[in-house]
Amino acid sequence: MTTESPSINLTSHDDVVRVEDLKVSFYTQLGVVRALNGVSFNIPRGRVLGIVGESGCGKSITGLSIMQLVVAAGRTEGGRILFREDAGQEPPVNILDYGKNSPEMRKIRGNNISMIFQEPMSSLNPCYTVGNQIEEAILLHQTSDKTEAHKRAVDVLTKVGMPNPSRIAASYPHELSGGMRQRAMIAMALSCNPTLLIADEPTTALDVTTEAQILDLMRGLQSEIGTSIMFITHNMGVVAQMCDEVAVMYMGRVVERATVDDIFYEPRHPYTISLLQSIPRLGRTKGRLASIEGSVPDPYSTTPGCSFHPRCPVAIKGLCDTIIPEETIVDAAKGHTVRCHLNS
Ligand SMILES: Nc1ncnc2c1ncn2[C@@H]1O[C@H](COP(=O)(O)OP(=O)(O)OP(=O)(O)O)[C@@H](O)[C@H]1O
Ligand SMILES: [Mg+2]
Repeated sequence: MTTESPSINLTSHDDVVRVEDLKVSFYTQLGVVRALNGVSFNIPRGRVLGIVGESGCGKSITGLSIMQLVVAAGRTEGGRILFREDAGQEPPVNILDYGKNSPEMRKIRGNNISMIFQEPMSSLNPCYTVGNQIEEAILLHQTSDKTEAHKRAVDVLTKVGMPNPSRIAASYPHELSGGMRQRAMIAMALSCNPTLLIADEPTTALDVTTEAQILDLMRGLQSEIGTSIMFITHNMGVVAQMCDEVAVMYMGRVVERATVDDIFYEPRHPYTISLLQSIPRLGRTKGRLASIEGSVPDPYSTTPGCSFHPRCPVAIKGLCDTIIPEETIVDAAKGHTVRCHLNS
C-alpha cells in the first residue's frame, strides 16, 4: 500500500513562498512523466533556500511552476503555491488560482517574482540590445517614462558590476562573454526589485573564477536588497557558499529540508548522506571518492515505496519498497524535516 502524506505545517508566519504538495505530470507520446510527486517546502523572507538533487529530480519544474511557466504538456495536478508579497499580507495568494496569462500572473511574473533561467542564451533575445530587454521589464512594471527606464537599466547594470554599463546596454547578447551574459540576466531579474528571485543553476556554465564572482555578487545584492532567493543547483559547494537553508529533492519529492549547517553536519536521509560523501574535501587524501550506487530511475516508471530504496544502502525490505515514507520532523525549531522510514 502506498499513501501520500499531507505536508507538515512547520512554517514561520513570514514565509515569502510556501509550496504545498505540488504535483506536476507531463503527458507525452511515450507515456506519463510524474515530474513532481508532492513537493512541499517554504522560503522564509530574506533567506536563500538551496534546492539540490541529481539531474531530472524536478528542480527546474518546481521553479517554473512558481512562475507558471511550465510548458503546455505539463499539467499541475494538485497542491498550492502560496505567495505573500509583504510580511503583513493576509491571507497569502495561491498562485495556482491565477490563469497562466491572467493580468494578476503577468503582474507577479517579473515584478514580484523573477527567474534567472538555466540557459542564459536561450532567455536573452538575440535581436534586442541588453539595455532594451531590461528597459522592457521596467516599462512594463515600474514606469512609463522611457528616459527614466533607460537610466534605471544602466543603474542596474552598474550594480551587477558591468565594467562599462552604457556600452553594455547598447550591446547585443552575442557581443558579451558568458560571464557578462549571466550578469545581464541577473540585472534583468533584479531590475524590478523582486520579492523572490528564482535562480536556476545560474553559474553552471561558467569557469570557477567567474562563478565565484557571480556568487559573491548575488550574495551581496541579496543582503543589500533583502530579496529571498530560491537557488537551484546540483553543486553542494555552491550550497555551502550561498544558502541559509536547503531542500534536497529526489524523484519529484523533497526528501530532506534543513538549515545549511544541519544538512552538512546532521544529515538524516541516506540520499543526502550519499550526496555529501561524493564531494571531494580538502585534507581527505585516503581512499576513493564515494559515488551513489545505481542511477536515477527512468522518469516514465514509478517506483513503489520510497523512490530512493533501490539505491539505498540501508533500505528495509517489505517497508521501504512498499510504503512511501511520510515527512517527519527532526527539529521543529530549525525546520528540519526528513522523509525516511529509518528516521520516523
Ligand atoms: N517538456 C517536458 N516534457 C516531458 N518531460 C519533461 C519536460 N520537462 C521536464 N520533464 C521531465 O520532468 C522531470 C523533471 O525535470 P527538471 O527539468 O525539473 O529536472 P532538473 O532537476 O531541473 O534537472 P537538471 O539538473 O538536469 O536541470 C524530468 O524527468 C524530465 O524528464
Ligand atoms: Mg534543471
